[in-house]
Amino acid sequence: MFKTDITTIEELKDKSNRQTRLLKQPRNIAATLYKDTLNNPELSEKVLREFIEDRGVYKRTAADRFSAFDGEALNVIELSFAKNRLLSVSDVAVSDGRTALDFFEKLNNIRLIEKYEASDYLCVVSAYEKNGITAVTGNNKIIQIIWKKCVLTERGRVGLIRFALNIVNYILYYLLLPKAKEAIAEGDKTEIKLFYPNALLKSKEDSRFVLFEHNILEPFASRYHIVRAMNILNPSYFSAAQFETIINNFYSSLFNGGLLITGSNQDAGSVVNGAIYKKNKSGFELIYKSGEGSAIKEIIEGYKTIV
Ligand SMILES: C[S@@+](CC[C@H](N)C(=O)[O-])C[C@H]1O[C@@H](n2cnc3c(N)ncnc32)[C@H](O)[C@@H]1O
Repeated sequence: MFKTDITTIEELKDKSNRQTRLLKQPRNIAATLYKDTLNNPELSEKVLREFIEDRGVYKRTAADRFSAFDGEALNVIELSFAKNRLLSVSDVAVSDGRTALDFFEKLNNIRLIEKYEASDYLCVVSAYEKNGITAVTGNNKIIQIIWKKCVLTERGRVGLIRFALNIVNYILYYLLLPKAKEAIAEGDKTEIKLFYPNALLKSKEDSRFVLFEHNILEPFASRYHIVRAMNILNPSYFSAAQFETIINNFYSSLFNGGLLITGSNQDAGSVVNGAIYKKNKSGFELIYKSGEGSAIKEIIEGYKTIV
């Protein structure tokens, strides 16, 4: 019954080991392994796949996650902006930035880019170790407690079987919490940047491509021709009131005629339920729909500016 998780790079490499034997549930993976996977993008995807940040949102991402949808977005961009127009783009909630780098490169082939800002709410985590217990924190909150073969989280996954499995997780989590807090106060600290190495490299070589931390619940500091929000406008991640704030932030950050590109999908290559909207004087106009459209289409399409 005792659940064991993935805490070493060898276990992470072993494909047969990624689910629990009996119930075939994904094992938790120590977030600290991200720093050991920097030369192996496929392995770092595995770490992010099971990584839930403090608000309960998955860090999950994948290379070529939505190529077909990106292709449609590029067509719309070509039709919407003249070839000589210098474009500024805000790509939000990019996780480690691999899908942002993908899109930057493709856009760079067809249009002039002035700046491409790729942001996420959580870009760095800290690991504090003391007496065999590691507390992983992000934005000053504990995200994981790693102890022996267990990777414990305050937020469990949903579902009945998972809930049963999580009881063990919760009990251990709360038993170890005082020790984890001690590790944070007195332990050895390691900082782990959650950036895809090629994206980090691009941000150093090309001043137009910028990676930084930004919470979409906060207003943007700049204005853009394009705001891209992939796999983040999910009804289980935010309340209706928070979505109002987010859509208002997107609207305010876009130039008139600017595009909001948004959609969600599962694994790389799966259908994107998404849409592209054009900002007009009173709100957003739907100009392209993929699959079932945006999961929050009523909110986006019902959005009205307060004049
Ligand atoms: C499922 S991942 C999507 C990553 C990438 N866009 C993709 O489609 O592969 C969701 C990301 O949203 C980020 N996130 C969660 N809440 C956020 C917020 N309020 N503001 C900005 N990013 C947020 C998480 O840290 C996570 O990296």
